[in-house]
Amino acid sequence: MTMYNQIFKDKKILITGNTGFKGSWLTTWLLKCGAKVYGYSIDVPTKPSMFEVLGLEKQIKQCYGDIRDKKHFVDYYNEVQPDFIFHLAAQAIVSTSYSEPFDTIATNVIGTATVMEAIRQTTWNVTAVVITSDKAYDNVEWIWGYRENDAMGGKDVYSGSKGAAELTIKSYWHSFIKHMPNVKMGVARAGNVIGGGDWSCDRIVVDTVKAFSNEMAVEIRSPKATRPWQHVLEPLSGYLRLAQALYEESITNGEAFNFGPRAEQTKTVKQLVEDIAVNWGMDKDKAVQVTGHVPFEEAKLLKLNCDKALAYLNWHSVLSYEETVKMITDWYLGYYEGDSDLLILTQQQISEFEKEANLQKQPWAV
Ligand SMILES: NC(=O)c1ccc[n+]([C@@H]2O[C@H](COP(=O)([O-])OP(=O)(O)OC[C@H]3O[C@@H](n4cnc5c(N)ncnc54)[C@H](O)[C@@H]3O)[C@@H](O)[C@H]2O)c1
Repeated sequence: MTMYNQIFKDKKILITGNTGFKGSWLTTWLLKCGAKVYGYSIDVPTKPSMFEVLGLEKQIKQCYGDIRDKKHFVDYYNEVQPDFIFHLAAQAIVSTSYSEPFDTIATNVIGTATVMEAIRQTTWNVTAVVITSDKAYDNVEWIWGYRENDAMGGKDVYSGSKGAAELTIKSYWHSFIKHMPNVKMGVARAGNVIGGGDWSCDRIVVDTVKAFSNEMAVEIRSPKATRPWQHVLEPLSGYLRLAQALYEESITNGEAFNFGPRAEQTKTVKQLVEDIAVNWGMDKDKAVQVTGHVPFEEAKLLKLNCDKALAYLNWHSVLSYEETVKMITDWYLGYYEGDSDLLILTQQQISEFEKEANLQKQPWAV
């Protein structure tokens, strides 16, 4: 199998937000593809963290800095001269946006403008994938999936910060970047992801495995709420496929893409917790405790329409819901039982995912 036509091999790849959940998986995957990875992050956001558990700092070149500090970031970008940049640095937690609204706006909007400033002054060839969120869409709470040309917006600060990041990208694209023949750029929007190695607060899988590792039930506030659960490798395969298409074909230049799960991945929170319990070897009837406590107003279900990614990139998600749940449980059991090399386990899970994508004839995994 040749992953992504080997375009990442020996390339310099800068990942902002590389110490976070998605950033750690992306780093591991790109290292597996033979890339030279450079990271830019303000901190290691959780304890424990996948970044530290996998010992990623030793395998890459790391710079700690604040994405709101334009000079510091632009100097680092110019020093690295990356062939590819993936921008993931963000204040990514919805509940934190209620306690720290100003910092959320600054990191997500000014941080994105900083990256645009670096890109618009690039003098070498670079391919950029800028990650925002499904929350960038103005959620009008309809039943249909959102398409890439639907309105941006958001009533809460987190959604607003992501919508504003999108407008920032759009204006830099039209004013500067589209006139630069040496720059290719795409925008990626995905929804909530789950996977091993996440320890962020207020995420259901994280609360679940923490409780199960202490042989306790997990408290959930909205058991009947449904979410389209997708493994973190699914959108990451979309980000990498988008980078490949930009690099090889340029037909997608300047465009935004949704990367979401299949409709049958949508299950209730209770179902997900019980399925993790079964894989964990726990009694599923003792896995859940329902509380009425709702700390903040969450937007209703937001679905992504992914027809564009299928049509232009021939991309679709790969894992079934059952495979997703099993992969997650295996990863956390490996961590909490303490007898696995988590770097090897993560690499094996990426290989499994690649094999499945190959069987499903995904063009990036032929
Ligand atoms: N995890 C999800 O379910 C999900 C869903 C949709 C979109 N996203 C988006 O994907 C991206 C990555 O999400 P994640 O879950 O890995 O987040 P995370 O919270 O695990 O990691 C955030 C990363 O950004 C860095 N960072 C934060 N503030 C910074 C600053 N001021 N300067 C430099 N670095 C800073 C942190 O150090 C960390 O590396 C974000 O843009 C997020 O909004 C995530």
